[in-house]
Amino acid sequence: MPILNIGPSAPERTVHYVPVWEPRLRVWHWSNALTILLLFESYLLFNWHKELGLSKATTAMFEKAHIYLGYLFILLFAGRVYLLFRGNTFSRLTEILPDRKGESLARTLLREVRHHLSPPRDPNGNLLPPADPGHNQLARFLYLPLFFLIIPIQILSGVLWSSVKWGFWPFPSLRTVAAPLHHTLNEILSDIHAACMYALLAFIAGHLFGIVLHEFTFRSDILSSMIHGDKPLTEKELDDYRQIERSGESPAE
Ligand code: HEM
Repeated sequence: MPILNIGPSAPERTVHYVPVWEPRLRVWHWSNALTILLLFESYLLFNWHKELGLSKATTAMFEKAHIYLGYLFILLFAGRVYLLFRGNTFSRLTEILPDRKGESLARTLLREVRHHLSPPRDPNGNLLPPADPGHNQLARFLYLPLFFLIIPIQILSGVLWSSVKWGFWPFPSLRTVAAPLHHTLNEILSDIHAACMYALLAFIAGHLFGIVLHEFTFRSDILSSMIHGDKPLTEKELDDYRQIERSGESPAE
């Protein structure tokens, strides 16, 4: 249904609410966010056990909880990878790759940064939001390293480290590797795992900053779209939306 958006400082424009984020994607998104929060919380608890005065048994409990949450994180990621190839149109890999419009990746990034920081206006002086029926074009530059670098390395280092330190699946024998190799493995994996955690925190900071900036600049409702699944699209975005849907093998639910 068309809606005339005339808030006190909102840009005046007609929008149509259309389904974009399928239920499976939204379930993945919020379960993943919660799991990361719990992974971080459990890490803080066992890492600061001395300062917090935790007993050895309690610290070990938080370490093991962290490992089990890590396995849940892997399952969730496997689900998101499935959606990249078998999900609905807007969950697929093609909708996460930046739309380069024949330009280089660097130029595309520059164009998107410019559009977000200094958006163009229509003849009436209203801000023109970037035409993004699905994933925000600038955010795609964060989603790509998240899916193909940060999360896979975080998972791999975590799985190996839990084998080395605790004898967990899939390589329990790594626990009994002789010193000093055991110590070296422990140090290397711990450094990689910590570096990925900082990269993940940097992603989350950039992600949240981008969403708040987008909401403030364009009054875009993108945050609630990740809850109910519908995005308010302008006429221009609606054309792109129909085109993407036509080109996809399965429409958004
Ligand atoms: C409270 C914290 C969070 C909020 C409020 C939030 C909000 C959102 C919103 C509004 C979108 C849609 C953006 C768009 O239109 O392009 C989105 C997408 C996304 N978010 Fe978050 N997010 C949060 C935490 C996270 C975390 C912790 C991660 C992963 C580390 C994450 C990963 C993603 C990804 C990958 C997408 C793209 C959708 C997909 O293809 O799966 N978010 N988020």
